[in-house]
This record gives sequence, structure tokens and C-alpha cells, in this order.
Amino acid sequence: MKKYSVMIGLLLLIGSGMWSCSDSGEEPVVEIPDDPDEEEDNIRLKAKFDIGAAVTNRELSGAQYANTLRTHYSQITAEFEMKMAHIWKGENNYDWAAADEMVNFAQTNNMKVHGHTLVWYSSFPNWFKSANYDSAAFESRVKTYIERVVQRYKGKVVSWDVANEIFNDNGTLRSENCPVYQTFRDPIAFYGRCFAYARAIDPDAKLFYNDYNVVLASGKRGAMRQMVNRFQADGYPIDGLGDQFHYMVSTNRNTIRNGLTDMAGSGLLIHISELDIRVNVNREDDYVYLPSEQAKHAEAYRDIVSFYESIPQNQKFAITTWGVADNGTWLRDWWHPKEYPLLFDDSFQKKRAYEGFLEGLN
Ligand code: XIL
Repeated sequence: MKKYSVMIGLLLLIGSGMWSCSDSGEEPVVEIPDDPDEEEDNIRLKAKFDIGAAVTNRELSGAQYANTLRTHYSQITAEFEMKMAHIWKGENNYDWAAADEMVNFAQTNNMKVHGHTLVWYSSFPNWFKSANYDSAAFESRVKTYIERVVQRYKGKVVSWDVANEIFNDNGTLRSENCPVYQTFRDPIAFYGRCFAYARAIDPDAKLFYNDYNVVLASGKRGAMRQMVNRFQADGYPIDGLGDQFHYMVSTNRNTIRNGLTDMAGSGLLIHISELDIRVNVNREDDYVYLPSEQAKHAEAYRDIVSFYESIPQNQKFAITTWGVADNGTWLRDWWHPKEYPLLFDDSFQKKRAYEGFLEGLN
């Protein structure tokens, strides 16, 4: 489609005499069309859904990073700058600086922002946890928080992970370190109201439930299905489901494919929301990312992207990678320093994994 529009655009330009100076004395505007061949070589141009990346402001200040992002991605997610503990410094004390900076970058560069995440057990600020609110006080404060954040970025953040990681893989509710679980007799109903608070402020924002291991853990998927059914029966809004997709080259592909198909059975938008694929699966200190390993990695990316392509087109929301280049991956801190999970290498060169991603796209 794009190729045709470029050609038609050229014909119109020639036909309307835009190449010569116009009578009005204005400078002629001659846009240089995208190289049509690029469409086959660029994941953002080839994909018929958004390609996102988790970003940090620190990295955004680097020109190579910012250029890579602009060239290959259409959407960003804050890796941590929009989490509760980073914004909510006290009951009436909000620190917007980092989140604003990121949203401004997206606006300037014509990119979408996916908001991550309004309610996550792991990001309740310490001042909030130590206040030991009863359920009414807890909820009124979280409601205000959701309203203020969604209001501030209304129209700029197009979608939100309203709740993140509320279930264990076996489908029970996460209880450990979870302030919501510890405060509410019916946590699911509380989460439903959180979705409604967000919807009331920005009716156009797509609202997601996000978790990890979704395609691997049928117990978790069952719990998510029940939650969605209950939301729909009780009138709470939900538009989509995210699976983080922090997987490994060794993760069973049939399990991934079947789990993704099952997730799509919900009929909701599906987001691969934090994709990275570990290659150093045994955390070996002498691991080397050899060409044979790179090839396996590329196959894993190709397969995952092609599985995603096989869900109904109208349910494809986005694939977001959790980082851009290997040098910025959270996994070097959280998994092993010798880890190479992303699409660009430490010098921002496209990897074979990138080619695999491209191959997986329709
Ligand atoms: C991680 C970030 O990558 C780290 O930089 C941060 O310090 C901790 O959180 N699931 C999620 C993400 O939903 O928010 C997490 O991000 C990774 C796991």
C-alpha cells in the first residue's frame, strides 16, 4: 500500500508542477519519499501493528539510541519512569519530570506511548505501604492517583496497563508483598474499579491487564479469563491482555503458540508487551554469543512474531521489546551480565534476531 501511495504522491507532485517555484513565492516543498525497498527491511514499516520498545530517559539522551528508536519503532513504554513509585512521592506530591520528558519525546517524534503501569504490587511507594490504610482510604487514594495520571497524559498515552502481575502462574491471586491482596476481601472487584476509574477519565485509552508467563501457564490464563468474564458481566471495562514474553531460546514453541491462540480466544486486543529472549539460558560465565547461537535466537524471534501474526488481525495491538540494544537490557543486571536478548547489539547494529523478527512478519 505504502509503495502505491508514494508513487501516486510523486505523480501528483509532477502533475501539479511542484518542482518549479510556485507563484505565491513560497519555497517549494519537495518531500523525499521513503525508499520503498525499506519497507521489507524495517520492522516498523513492514508490520501492520505497532512496534514498541521500553525506553529510559537516560538512554534517550544518546543520539544513536534515539535514532534507532525513531527508525525502527512506532511506540514506546517507559521502562520504569511511569510506575507508581517513580511518580507518586507523597499523597499530594507528584513528580512528573521523567514521565513528561518521555511523553514529550514521543510527541516530538510522532510515536505512541503505552502507559506502564497504574497498579503493580511491586511499585507501591514506601510512604503508601507504611500508612497501612484501610480499604476505603486505600482505594480513595489510588483512585485519585489513577485519575491524576490518566488525566495528565490524556490523548498522549494511548493505552495503559491498568493492573500488572496480580496472579500466580497456577491462577491463585498473588498474596506475597501485594498491598491490594492484603487490604481487600475481593481484590478482583477492586481491580475492576481501577479499570473503571481510568476509563472515566480517558474513554479513548485502551486498557490492559498485563502479566508474565501467560502463554505458558494455563492456570494463569484461566484466572485471567474468569476475571475478564466477571468484568464484562459487572460492567468494568477491559480492552486487552498483555503477556510480557520474557522467554528463552529454549522455551517450547508449541506451548507458546497454543497459549497465544488461547489468549486470543478472549477476543480482546493482545499485546506482547515486554519481549526479550534470553540466550545464556544456563547463566554461564564463559558464555559466548556465537553465530550458531545468534541463528537460534533469530529463529526464536521469527517463530514468536509469526505466531503473533496468526491471531486475528483486529486483535493485534503491538509487539513491544523490553529495551532496544543489548547494552541497555535489564537482564544484564537481573539475569546474567553475558546476556544478549534484544534486536540491536551494543553498537546499535541490527542483529540476526532483527532479521528473524522481520521474517516472522506477514
Ligand atoms: C523492570 C525494569 O526493566 C527494571 O529496570 C526495573 O528496575 C524493574 O522493573 N515485569 C514488568 C516490568 O512488568 O515493569 C519490569 O521492568 C520487568 C518485569
